[in-house]
Amino acid sequence: MAQQGSLHGEVYYPSPEVIARARLKDWDALAKRAQEDLEGFWAEEASELEWYQKWERVLDDSQKPFYKWFIGGKVNIVHNCLDRHQTTYRKNKLALIWVGEPGDVRTYSYFALHREVNQFANVLKAMGIRKGDRVTIYMPRIPEIVIAMLACAKIGAIHSVVYGGFSVDALQGRIEDSQSRMVITADGGWMNGKIVELKKTVDEALKRCPSVESVIVVKRTGQEIRMEPGRDYWYHELIKLPVANGHCPTEVMDAEDPLFILYTSGTTGKPKAILHVHGGYMVGVYSTLKYVFDIQDDDRWWCAADPGWITGHSYIVYGPLLLGATSFMYEGAPTYPYPDRWWALIEKYGITILYTAPTAIRGLMRFGESWPNRHDLSSLRLLGTVGEPINPEAWKWYYRVIGKERCPIMDTWWQTETGMFMITPTPVVPLKPGSGTRPFFGQEADILDEQGNPVPVGEEGYLVLKRPWPAMLRTIYGDPERYVKQYWSKYPGLYMTGDSARRDEDGYFWIIGRVDDVIKVSGYRLGTAEIESALVSHPAVAEAAAIGLPHEVKGNAIHAYCLLRAGYTPSEALAEELRQHVAQHLGPIAKPEKIEFVTSLPKTRSGKIMRRVLRARALGMPEGDLSTLEE
Ligand code: WTA
Repeated sequence: MAQQGSLHGEVYYPSPEVIARARLKDWDALAKRAQEDLEGFWAEEASELEWYQKWERVLDDSQKPFYKWFIGGKVNIVHNCLDRHQTTYRKNKLALIWVGEPGDVRTYSYFALHREVNQFANVLKAMGIRKGDRVTIYMPRIPEIVIAMLACAKIGAIHSVVYGGFSVDALQGRIEDSQSRMVITADGGWMNGKIVELKKTVDEALKRCPSVESVIVVKRTGQEIRMEPGRDYWYHELIKLPVANGHCPTEVMDAEDPLFILYTSGTTGKPKAILHVHGGYMVGVYSTLKYVFDIQDDDRWWCAADPGWITGHSYIVYGPLLLGATSFMYEGAPTYPYPDRWWALIEKYGITILYTAPTAIRGLMRFGESWPNRHDLSSLRLLGTVGEPINPEAWKWYYRVIGKERCPIMDTWWQTETGMFMITPTPVVPLKPGSGTRPFFGQEADILDEQGNPVPVGEEGYLVLKRPWPAMLRTIYGDPERYVKQYWSKYPGLYMTGDSARRDEDGYFWIIGRVDDVIKVSGYRLGTAEIESALVSHPAVAEAAAIGLPHEVKGNAIHAYCLLRAGYTPSEALAEELRQHVAQHLGPIAKPEKIEFVTSLPKTRSGKIMRRVLRARALGMPEGDLSTLEE
């Protein structure tokens, strides 16, 4: 534990009860050990999991930046998530407690989840899915999304989950890029008392996706939907077929074999398919969840993200199962039917650890303290946050009103690309509201200026990671050049995060935000390019530019500037039409807060839109260096 009282600024120290319970008491000792022997540290972590065949080498960095981990190791993440628990008491332990928005409840023991994953894996195989095939999963927050992901991984297929809040164009682009052979979806899902019609969106998207041979549909909402004969099959009918019966052997995978791809927005162009693998990803996710949220057998863990994002992949689906934990999952909106839905769920299910995003906290904070105060939240012992910087005001509300000043808040900084927490405290680390504290064991971060020199304490610069880690992305699927260019070329040998940050006198990191054209809206990662291309797909729009501007609840809100084609005139009605257009094509999460019509856009001489100039103008700030401006 750090020396009490030696830190600067506002510091929250862990209580003796928290320290007494923590599995890791001496943070400094383990940090030192991992620093001095990176491979030894990770080998030890990996040894806590089961391997069909042990690795020959921990790290191969002979072809940087194409790092490899646990070379020669044979493993399957699903073996460690499900199979290995079947011979222990955990077989009868709850793996998943799930509550639907309308109030329906389902629970799965490790035995039951294993059985259902076996059945569905048998179905996938019978339908011709093989090791290495891509399968797109587009589903609501229901247990079958977890089952579908695990069933794919079990047989060595590569899942590509597309968040259910995305719409036709986003889905279509991701199916096409991954060349998926199958789509797994549902008739719909419940959100805010309404049905989100996922199958309809799939039908639209598939008009332009020839690679897809079959669609499996889970019946969730039960409304009438169109089923295309010969292409669409009901999940509940398939798993009743004789072929689904019996054990499905877990495919023996190489540690470096692909586990999944997950699309995420980057600096330019279309979303990138981030590739993660069975071995290293498994070890990284297991180890981070174990140390940071310190999950024990008596915990009930609730990661309130969506499985469709990396947070859900790592810490709803894989991490908790690797640890043999009991997870809680809720389908719907936090405020449905009343703003105390989450607090009621925590009370009713005795949740001990809640992990969510600043935007959710700010959103719930708006309804006041009386909603949480109506419930007994004393089961909570730890809290967590992820997705964007948390403002100290929200941090303190979370700490005081939800955690009753007993529960440390784990502010975890990481990315789709990192696969696992990278800058994060553990329960025994003294906290400062708004800082993710220090890098995880074995990692080293730095803050650099344009030229690559470390900036002085307190100054802003580019956040980079200096050492490889097992859950790191292996490449951009299908585009290794872009992988090198995007992450490893600004500062050769260092991983470029795309974030700016500061470091304080205690070595604590403070994330400021993205320095590229990524906008974090309610913690969701969106690219300006995606929003702009949705806008210009409307006949009225000739050119568009999207930027993020500060928003009280969402963190950032999208503002879009549109240049109209000849024959169209600006109007309130057209602005509204364009907002709806983006929602329909890309997804409701990408709907611009505001659309402004302009007659020109600031551009560089080479024709690139200068979004920073638009942002500065909108905020009434100095426009900075305009020497490259063409206007
Ligand atoms: C931001 C989400 C501040 C950051 C897991 C990063 C954060 C991007 C934090 C990745 C945090 C994530 N504090 N900022 N605790 N966590 N971010 O890929 O800008 O959706 O680069 O992964 O979210 O977003 P992604």
